[in-house]
Amino acid sequence: MNPPLVVGNWKMNGGQKASLELVRKISNQLRKHPTPAQVALAPPFTALSALKKIAEKARIDLAAQNCDWHDSGAFTGEISSAMLQEIGCDLVIIGHSERRHIFCESDDAIAQKIAAVIRHGMRPILCVGETIDERKGDQTSAVIMRQLDSALKGIAEDAIDKVEIAYEPVWAIGTGLNATAEQIRETHAQIRKFLISRFDKTKGEHVRILYGGSVKPDNAETIARIESVNGVLVGGASLMADSFLEIIRAFSVK
Ligand code: PGA
Repeated sequence: MNPPLVVGNWKMNGGQKASLELVRKISNQLRKHPTPAQVALAPPFTALSALKKIAEKARIDLAAQNCDWHDSGAFTGEISSAMLQEIGCDLVIIGHSERRHIFCESDDAIAQKIAAVIRHGMRPILCVGETIDERKGDQTSAVIMRQLDSALKGIAEDAIDKVEIAYEPVWAIGTGLNATAEQIRETHAQIRKFLISRFDKTKGEHVRILYGGSVKPDNAETIARIESVNGVLVGGASLMADSFLEIIRAFSVK
């Protein structure tokens, strides 16, 4: 298995100046205390270029939070994956629950975005997760399988190793509520089974499956100890250098 992946998703917080300050703090510490974990940061679009050099020196991958699937054209307000590749992005978060639920992104749009990111040599972080009503209605597994099936339907057998998957229960994002270790294990096992049966077995076994949803310094160690967790996608707690570094440290011993 690749090293664990710890991703900070800054969402629509902080402009270029605040993002630069934060990446400097994080990268200074990582240069002093290197980690075997793979660290990635997803600042707002306007800060991506400015962060590239500093991130690179600290071996931090650069992630975008979204992209369009067309390469170019009359799509006012959109940013293409070709444009993200040009400025040196390594990863793109696709299908985050805020995109699915607030901006009504369809499974079909998500599938096209995943394909575009891979076509441009970057790695998509595909987010999947159920709402609280779906969990209560015993629909978790069906929802996750539908999201995976549709997002990855166009992906060639041998391209699955370019994909990172993040299981993020919608009800755990930004709420302070965590999925239990048992809930994470169960859903991760279902995702792994899907990957192995659908794609090349060895490659399917090696795709990283992250967890996301209210990951904080005080629960990071417990989450890191769950065997099926190959990293985390962190929102709120990645906006402060100290708390994000503590989470990285929890994954440095994995
Ligand atoms: P949170 O966000 O850590 O603030 O819950 C996670 C995410 O949105 O990926």
